[in-house]
Amino acid sequence: MIESKVICPTCKKNSINDRYQTYWMCNECGEKYSCINGIPKLYLEDALGKVDKEVKDDDYKYMAWFYNFWMPFYMLPVRPIKVSIKLWMAYFLLVFSFIFLFFNVIDLIAIRGIGSATIYDFLLFVPLVIFIFLLSKQPRYAYLLLLAIPIKIILSFRNFVPEKTHSSVHKEFQEEYLESDERLKMLDIASGSGNSLFRHGWMKLNADYTAADYAAGMIVQGRRLMSKHKVPADFILADATKLPFKSETFDISTNYGAVNGFTDPESALKEMVRVTKKGGKILFLDEREYESATWLENVYFKKVFAYNNTIVGCPVELLPDDLEDIQVHQVYEFVYICTARKKM
Ligand SMILES: C[S@@+](CC[C@H](N)C(=O)[O-])C[C@H]1O[C@@H](n2cnc3c(N)ncnc32)[C@H](O)[C@@H]1O
Ligand SMILES: [Zn+2]
Repeated sequence: MIESKVICPTCKKNSINDRYQTYWMCNECGEKYSCINGIPKLYLEDALGKVDKEVKDDDYKYMAWFYNFWMPFYMLPVRPIKVSIKLWMAYFLLVFSFIFLFFNVIDLIAIRGIGSATIYDFLLFVPLVIFIFLLSKQPRYAYLLLLAIPIKIILSFRNFVPEKTHSSVHKEFQEEYLESDERLKMLDIASGSGNSLFRHGWMKLNADYTAADYAAGMIVQGRRLMSKHKVPADFILADATKLPFKSETFDISTNYGAVNGFTDPESALKEMVRVTKKGGKILFLDEREYESATWLENVYFKKVFAYNNTIVGCPVELLPDDLEDIQVHQVYEFVYICTARKKM
């Protein structure tokens, strides 16, 4: 039962007993928490960190609906071509449209003369202005359009081979849980569209899953994915830096792709460890550059891949003391995975 796991964000007591699809109420302090599409919002908007709020408004409000397009798009040069053919086609279409629109304006000004402008020129001018306006609002896409091809070429010559692959790190991590008779409790923080929770072997476990994320537009996509596959899961709208869960509740806690972007990554890591049982394990993944990156790869990393990060690299120094067996693996050119166990 989900209410046995949650605490009230206001009074921190485990006393949310009144649950409806419209609101949840804490019987201790009387605070009511609204539900969005039936999912309780167990955080206070005003208590969000500055960067968390900005990222939520910029990327995970309206843009959440296009997440499955823009997220792979800014990883375009990093992902294998065979899984991103459609995105490369979209990329070339955008680049050629931009060049065409741009040269039409140059042609009008420098060769034909502004006086000869027709309605056709005006119709071509409008999308160019919109294009430039959008790129100025989201400069990471301007950098992506410029850098995708050179970065793809550099990476194809580099042929990065990790010491441990993404899937072998997961396999090793999950091994001890595969035969578990006891039903496990797994928490995925910043779970979003649920892609990572669903894809990386977690569904093999004998587990109940809890997915927490602060963006309604993201978490409803995660719920849709889990409903489609009939996964036993609860969904909570929560701020990763102030998790509304009782301490030592989960056997496994994960976070894919969000730690480096939090206003306060230290609190987020502390919270992740707090809600994990003693002897339980944590895993988080985010952006980190490999050591021999060239200047251009650095530009791509900073301006596109990790454009809104508050920290660079794996924040092992921010991990709380009650962890052991901390391991950091560079699994792709720009991605690390950190795993650790909470001491008994
Ligand atoms: C890059 S997406 C990753 C989503 C998912 N983990 C995956 O791998 O597909 C980052 C997610 O972190 C969530 N997020 C960012 N800051 C958060 C915060 N302070 N509390 C909870 N969720 C947060 C966003 O809403 C978004 O769903
Ligand atoms: Zn309360």
